[in-house]
Amino acid sequence: MTQAIEHTCDLLVVGSGAAGLSLALNVADSCNVIVLSKSDMDEGSTRYAQGGIAAVFDSSDSIESHIQDTLTAGAGLCDEKVVRYTAENAKTSMEWLIGKGVPFDQEVDPQGNKKFHLTREGGHSHRRILHAADATGEAVQTTLSDSVKQHPNIHLFERYNAIDLIKTHKADSSCVGAYVWNRKKERVEVIKARFIALATGGGSKVYQYTSNPDVSSGDGIAMAWRAGCEIANMEFNQFHPTCLYHPDAGNFLISEALRGEGAILCHKDGTAFMKKFDERADLAPRDIVARAIDYEMKRLGEDCMYLDISHKPADFIVKHFPNIYRKCRSLGIDITQQPIPVVPAAHYSCGGVKTDLDARTNLENVYAIGEVACTGLHGANRMASNSLLECVVFAHACAKHIMQAKERPHTKEAIRPWDESRVIDSDEAVIIQHNWHELRLFMWDYVGIVRTDKRLERAMRRINLLKQEIDEYYSFFKVSNNMLELRNLVCVAQLIVLCAMKRKESRGLHYNLDYPDLLEHSTATVIQKETNSPTELY
Ligand code: FAD
Ligand code: SIN
Repeated sequence: MTQAIEHTCDLLVVGSGAAGLSLALNVADSCNVIVLSKSDMDEGSTRYAQGGIAAVFDSSDSIESHIQDTLTAGAGLCDEKVVRYTAENAKTSMEWLIGKGVPFDQEVDPQGNKKFHLTREGGHSHRRILHAADATGEAVQTTLSDSVKQHPNIHLFERYNAIDLIKTHKADSSCVGAYVWNRKKERVEVIKARFIALATGGGSKVYQYTSNPDVSSGDGIAMAWRAGCEIANMEFNQFHPTCLYHPDAGNFLISEALRGEGAILCHKDGTAFMKKFDERADLAPRDIVARAIDYEMKRLGEDCMYLDISHKPADFIVKHFPNIYRKCRSLGIDITQQPIPVVPAAHYSCGGVKTDLDARTNLENVYAIGEVACTGLHGANRMASNSLLECVVFAHACAKHIMQAKERPHTKEAIRPWDESRVIDSDEAVIIQHNWHELRLFMWDYVGIVRTDKRLERAMRRINLLKQEIDEYYSFFKVSNNMLELRNLVCVAQLIVLCAMKRKESRGLHYNLDYPDLLEHSTATVIQKETNSPTELY
């Protein structure tokens, strides 16, 4: 056993998206912070966000209306006090972003005053989405990272994977740091911290088709689960209705803001179909629209549906959606002239590490913020543009709590070094590749937009087999990014299926043909390792 390289900080932030960077910036004047990023600093869902961020800025809108819309989209499972807290703190959080320099689009009103241009998305009864054209995430990510790079107390560790949280004793309710994989040096190091915040984003990469970047492998959820955190609502995976359907598109999203500005979903022949599913038609909440598209594709045996905004003036389209226009144009689709081929894809994890209003988990000094967390805001279905909002609001709440608790001492106990004495270089990386594809495919087929008990059972059997193989592989071979991600994805898959099996109804994003109705009384699904062990769960 060799002595590991050790780093020490007050706060370890795992993740450098909107949540992680907002937190780091809010505590760094009085704390020493290490921010970990598994890939390059700016790679994460934040960077790809298109539509915008919800907040009440218009005088004809109201916080009550934002709250009501969020509760309605959440299908009865939102935590109302969290929804209220978020909506009430939305404007100041956006003002903080604006103060940092995020260039949200502005317009001049008829009286000649400058004001923010607000767009609209599904579920919102008002225009309340601040945006930077159709690349809001890029504007937020680059503004925050520029700020972070200038702060002397924030140390950025890029290409470092957090592997696991470290507890000195198994029954501890706190953590003393994390084992991390230095990808450049290919070695495991230790980071000791008084406080740890998970800001690792979601786990949509567990599905074959996703709008998310590669880093979204649910690492924080899996790490938290293994450390004994409560995990909630994992059955609620949001499928975005409209991802670009084209062999060379990658994971490219067609923003809901297009529908907010009048785009219509239709068949190949131009027939609009959303009215037959919901009176709000194309602006119904996402779960309804995604299911409708899935239904129409299956009914008609089509590979995709179409989204048409070509009835709007071309200069309007190009001005509001320059990024989408350019991308489609590069693939031979002129969105000012023709409909866009679209399919649903896994987009957002509504479930995650259960937290309170201070972003605390049930482990004393471990916090979770952003998509990795389940605050209770989204319930059974997240309303569009509430996610970046949640990142910033809860980063502020978390910072406040850490600042109040900041006298917590470092552990005096020695941290067990990482034991690599019995592992060897992998000679069968193909196993990882194969299992990776298999997992993502059966999750798409069996645990996707429409589920049944049989499909869930089938998925769980396969997950258990994969888990055995990965565990074995993990104990024999040196770690690698792919192996760590697969280990986490298998854990996330297991948690999704476990939660889905527990829910005996169809609600929001969870639709099970064996239980098509809503139960009269329903609560969040909350699970914790101790209470489900000693089964085959991690
Ligand atoms: P991310 O931005 O995903 O960042 C995660 C970070 O964690 C990354 O830095 C990653 O490297 C790091 N990380 C992960 N695992 C590890 C590990 N093991 N070790 C070290 N680091 C790790 N929401 C909205 O509100 N409005 C929108 O318009 C919108 N549009 C979207 C469009 C797309 C295409 C996508 C994919 C999402 C969109 N969302 C939108 C959702 C929103 O962007 C995300 O929920 C949000 O950005 C998540 O931010 P985050 O900081 O929690 O995580
Ligand atoms: C979009 O622009 O459609 C994505 C918005 C979101 O996920 O909140």
